[in-house]
Amino acid sequence: MTDLYWPKGTGFNDALADAAQLTDRTLDALIPVPPGLEARVYEAMRYAALAPGKRLRPFLVLAGAQLFGVAQRSALQAAAAIELVHAYSLVHDDLPAMDDSDLRRGRPTCHKAYDEATAVLAGDGLQTLAFEVLAHSDTHGDPAVRCELVTSLAQAAGPAGMVGGQMIDLIAETRTLDLDAITRLQRMKTGALIAFSCEAGAILGKASVEKRRALRGYAHDLGLAFQIADDLLDVEGSAGETGKPVGQDAVAGKATFVSILGIERARDQAQTLVGQAIAHLEAFEGNAELLRDAARFVVDRRT
Ligand code: IPE
Ligand code: IPE
Ligand code: MG
Ligand code: MG
Ligand code: MG
Repeated sequence: MTDLYWPKGTGFNDALADAAQLTDRTLDALIPVPPGLEARVYEAMRYAALAPGKRLRPFLVLAGAQLFGVAQRSALQAAAAIELVHAYSLVHDDLPAMDDSDLRRGRPTCHKAYDEATAVLAGDGLQTLAFEVLAHSDTHGDPAVRCELVTSLAQAAGPAGMVGGQMIDLIAETRTLDLDAITRLQRMKTGALIAFSCEAGAILGKASVEKRRALRGYAHDLGLAFQIADDLLDVEGSAGETGKPVGQDAVAGKATFVSILGIERARDQAQTLVGQAIAHLEAFEGNAELLRDAARFVVDRRT
């Protein structure tokens, strides 16, 4: 991948692998380990952020940025920022006080490899670093653009987005939610950060209102489809493929599309959402093939 991004016809798997490599290089440079006793928290941050995840969110940032001719350096800063927030959310999600998971990305979870207090701090460090990265002049020359990125990520990650969704997710373990409430929970918990990933390129590229609306529509459906697929994998997948324990949602009494609709209808719902997501891409004519393939990947994936 050059600074011109992916030529037309590049396959999704190749593009995702490129995005992962470039993001990992960026993350590696962003988290140097200093001398001093605080090195431990940096090491735990690196452990979580550089572990082998799919890097789908960075891919979405880069694919969106390509649509608007954004410089790759800018897009990579935003891609790294979203992956830092995502990694923090996973570290905290796995803690004993939350999902109590021992395995993540095929490795012991951060609190198992280090300890709980270090994992809490590593999550905090990853999150704050993400905002420092977005605010840096490398991200965009226009401070108003940087400010909009910071605000958008804060809204997506905070109590109106991921954090709020995680709160509802925990409350729902002991309370019955209807389909509307579960939809809202999933959109907040997972959809909001995926939506930011899709919109970051539009913010960086100062895209038109119509193009942004189209991307938002795509992201809205994609995010929900992504979490339904995650819930299906918890029932039908294997730890070998997903790199995390399976079967935990039912044990914890999680409110998921699968728990309320059953496997078949949940899968149908995910497929319907993917079709809707792809329909929003018409606004980009033939230029959004990678995003179209990403939508299919989201529901067909085994990892
Ligand atoms: C897992 O996200 C957590 C959810 C929001 C469902 P991913 O499936 O993207 O995890 P990684 O980054 O590939 O490990
Ligand atoms: C977590 O959802 C979403 C986050 C905000 C981290 P899950 O709890 O279903 O994610 P996994 O299955 O542990 O990756
Ligand atoms: Mg969880
Ligand atoms: Mg979990
Ligand atoms: Mg899950």
